Amino acid sequence: MSEDDLFNDRIEHLIDELKELKIDINKAKTKRQTDNIINGIIAKKFENVIVMLGAGASTSAGIPDFRSPGGLYDQLRDAGINQGETVFDLKYFQKDPSLFYRFAAMLLPDITKFQPTITHKFVKKLNDRGVLLRCYTQNIDSLEMHAGLPEEKVVYAHGNFNSFYCLKCGYKSELTDEMKATIQDKKIVKCPKDDSALKPSVVFFGENLPKRYHELSKPDFQKCDCLIVIGTSLKVYPFAGLVNDVKLYIPRLLVNREETGDFEFRKKNSRDIFIQGNCDDVCKKWLETLELE
Ligand code: OAD
Repeated sequence: MSEDDLFNDRIEHLIDELKELKIDINKAKTKRQTDNIINGIIAKKFENVIVMLGAGASTSAGIPDFRSPGGLYDQLRDAGINQGETVFDLKYFQKDPSLFYRFAAMLLPDITKFQPTITHKFVKKLNDRGVLLRCYTQNIDSLEMHAGLPEEKVVYAHGNFNSFYCLKCGYKSELTDEMKATIQDKKIVKCPKDDSALKPSVVFFGENLPKRYHELSKPDFQKCDCLIVIGTSLKVYPFAGLVNDVKLYIPRLLVNREETGDFEFRKKNSRDIFIQGNCDDVCKKWLETLELE
């Protein structure tokens, strides 16, 4: 090996060492910032925490998310639907509700089968400690409710399957066992008054978000003193835009498998913190810390 080669080798080695050192420093910084938040919660320095949830919060319960490999949109692609969003498109539903009802059985959460995850339990613990201002969820599985969060603490931004209504005559019905059976048979649930298709109260693309979302989100996000975002690709608006509705100095924490959303993790002295990984693993540690105190 020539002297030049040796020199280049040494330089490359040093660069690798520097990179590793930077990763270690970043990790230590993230840990310190996160500890500050959890300690702040314990000390009630943060009293108006908002948690934003996405499908990632429920994957460990056995409910697939939408956009991960093997997720719902991949499953729909395998079934010949290239644009998974079409299944939840209001205009398409009005034209042909059979597409939605072909897959509705796959989407309808069977609460007897799915249990709240550690992530849901962490959110419940925040409420037990009296620091949860609100949980905003995009999920339609109602696992927040089953974890024991009171109704007034949750905003179901994308609705749920609890009720169905007629787009033509306004007829409304709670989800009945008969309707569930129709859905399992992949048949269209019809309005008893005018025989048109009933639509679930799940928010479809092209539809407005629930009144409660609009009434609460502005004042809540202004009041929020700590924002924790868990398990979402933050691809769907207006929900994704909520992260920008907190005041400029409010810490924003994202727990997700990969970086998402409108954050500035790499900016110097950023208020944004990214914890990469499985949300249940992260929430388990936080839950244990909160339970110890
Ligand atoms: P997505 O499937 O778009 O994103 C889920 C995110 O969670 C991805 O970034 C995953 O990597 C991450 N993830 C999955 N499991 C995880 C885990 N165990 N730990 C940590 N991260 C995990 O789901 P949403 O963002 O919720 O809307 O999707 C938003 C909306 O798009 C849905 O509400 C639905 C869909 O179209 C409507 O139907 C109106």
